[in-house]
Formats: sequence, structure tokens, C-alpha cells
Amino acid sequence: MTLQNIGVIGAGTMGNGIAQTCALCGFDVVMQDIAQAPLDNGMKTIQKSLDRLVGKEKISTADYEAALARLKTTTDINAMEDRDLVIEAASENIEIKLGVFTQLNKICPDSTILATNTSSLSLTRIAAASGRADRVVGMHFFNPVPLMALVEVIRALQTSDKTYNAIETLANSLGKTPVSVKDSPGFVVNRMLVPMINEAVFILYEGLAQAEDIDAAMKLGAAHPMGPLALADMIGLDVCLWVMNVLHEEFGDSKFRPCPLLKQMVDAGYLGRKTGRGFYQYGG
Ligand code: 3HC
Repeated sequence: MTLQNIGVIGAGTMGNGIAQTCALCGFDVVMQDIAQAPLDNGMKTIQKSLDRLVGKEKISTADYEAALARLKTTTDINAMEDRDLVIEAASENIEIKLGVFTQLNKICPDSTILATNTSSLSLTRIAAASGRADRVVGMHFFNPVPLMALVEVIRALQTSDKTYNAIETLANSLGKTPVSVKDSPGFVVNRMLVPMINEAVFILYEGLAQAEDIDAAMKLGAAHPMGPLALADMIGLDVCLWVMNVLHEEFGDSKFRPCPLLKQMVDAGYLGRKTGRGFYQYGG
């Protein structure tokens, strides 16, 4: 099965990173969002990211221009009608995702594979509601998508081998390494990574060490490319809290309880880089 025309639902951090990666790797991409403003922001981020890749000599100016020429944006979800694959990267809200999948099932040809970039929701539930359960699969990318080499390919209980194999091949074509994971809260990476970040927030909350020292400890003592609090700011504190809440509720295990400081930061609107303030300050 050849997947050449790709649709991306959502122009946020993950959506624009996925759209950029697909366009750079030669695929025809349409990125959709519900309003023009997120699409404009998404395109600005893509241009900045491509600029950096040119600056680092990872791609040429011709690659940059070819990628942009292969990438279109729209507010109309009906534009997905000719896509071989649609990757949904909308908000992590089950009702929103189920709504998107129901619409896509009506709009797209029978052969279209519907993938979700969900970081922790039940893929099996999304597949069951989709109307085409065997052609639904998880493609979990990592932030920043253009730089991170992994894609978790998640099989819902209903995902067919044909669908799974097509997505595994596609992940390789995107220059990523696919890892096969069964449907389970947090899959592999978030189940380990986000509790580690939560523990770093507990260490800060308990006054055991300053943010800079917690991050330096993990960079120098465990060879992590970024400290856990800087990483939380990059992922988004709301996303980290969301993943902790899902792990806590789904496993019913107190080891996944979110740190009160993480909840307070989210309540205060200190969501990390995207709001200019998280555990660190950004911009101005
Ligand atoms: N496109 C987008 N962002 C880019 C980029 C590009 N082409 N090049 C760099 N960046 C970003 C970085 O976030 C950071 O921002 P800043 O400069 O504006 O402060 C900066 O650019 C770092 O630039 P560098 O040139 O120093 O980048 P490095 O080559 O040193 O690598 C990194 C940066 C790849 C982000 C590295 O630090 C890293 O691997 N960090 C860990 C990332 C990680 O763990 N991601 C997984 C998060 S979990 C997740 O996404 C799952 C979800 O479900 C929660």
C-alpha cells in the first residue's frame, strides 16, 4: 500500500512538526486546523524550524523550498477527501478526537488509514468509534518532531496487519525508527518519561534543589540532553499534567499522582515555552 498524500489534523506543536517532516520527506501534505490563526502560527514555526535545519546544513535551500511547495493549509476538513493517510494531532480530548474520527470516516475513501498522535488516550476506544477500526493506528511522534528519531506505532486491538505494516514502512520513509507498542496508557516513552519529570517537580516542590541544579544533575549525571524541568517546559506543563492524570486514573496506582506544584503551575497558566513562563522564563 503506497501512502503519498498525507493529511494532518491540527497545526499545533506536534501537528506542524509532523506536517513539516512529511513534506521534507517528499510527501504531499495538507495541514488542517479549525481557524486561520493556528495555521499561520504553525507555518511560522515550520519556516523557523526549516531555517534552522538549513543553518545547520542538514538540508539545502532547495529542500526547504520543495518542502514548503508540498505543504498546503486549510480550515476545511473536507480537504481530507483525497488523502491516503490522515494523522490526527488535535487536542488531547477524547470527545474532540472521536468527533474528528467520525467526520474523517465520512469524508475519506474506504482505503484511507486514520492515525492518531495521541500521547496517552485509548487507541482501541478511538478505533471502535471510528467506523473503520482495522484501519486505525497510533503514530506517536516526539517533540521536536523534526529532530526526534522515534515513532511509537501503536496497535489498537482491532488494527490489521496490513495497516500496521503500511505505517511501519511510512515511519521509515520519514527517517524515523518505528517501535511497535500495544495499546496501553502512556505507551512506552510517556509511561516512563513523564513520571520522571513529575518526580523532578516533586524534588523542586519539596525544596531539595533549585530547578537549574535538578536539570544540571540529570544532564551531567545521567547524560540526558535536557534536564527534566527544561524538557517539561518544552513539552508543555499542561501536557505533562494530562499524561500524569491519565496514568493515575487508568492504572489506579498512587505512584502516578501528579505533583501539586505541577497542578498549580498549570492553574496559573505557566505552561512552559508556549506561554513564555514555566520552570524558566522565555523571550522578552
Ligand atoms: N525544529 C524544531 N525545534 C528545534 C529545531 C528544529 N529544526 N532545532 C532545534 N530546535 C529546538 C529546541 O527545542 C531548542 O530551542 P531554543 O534554541 O529556541 O531554546 C533548541 O531548538 C535547541 O537548539 P539546539 O540547536 O541546541 O538543538 P540540539 O541539536 O542541541 O537538540 C534537542 C535539541 C533535540 C531538543 C535535544 O535537546 C533533545 O533531544 N532533548 C530531549 C527532547 C525529548 O526528550 N523529547 C521528547 C519529549 S516527550 C514527547 O514529545 C511525547 C509527548 O507525547 C509528550
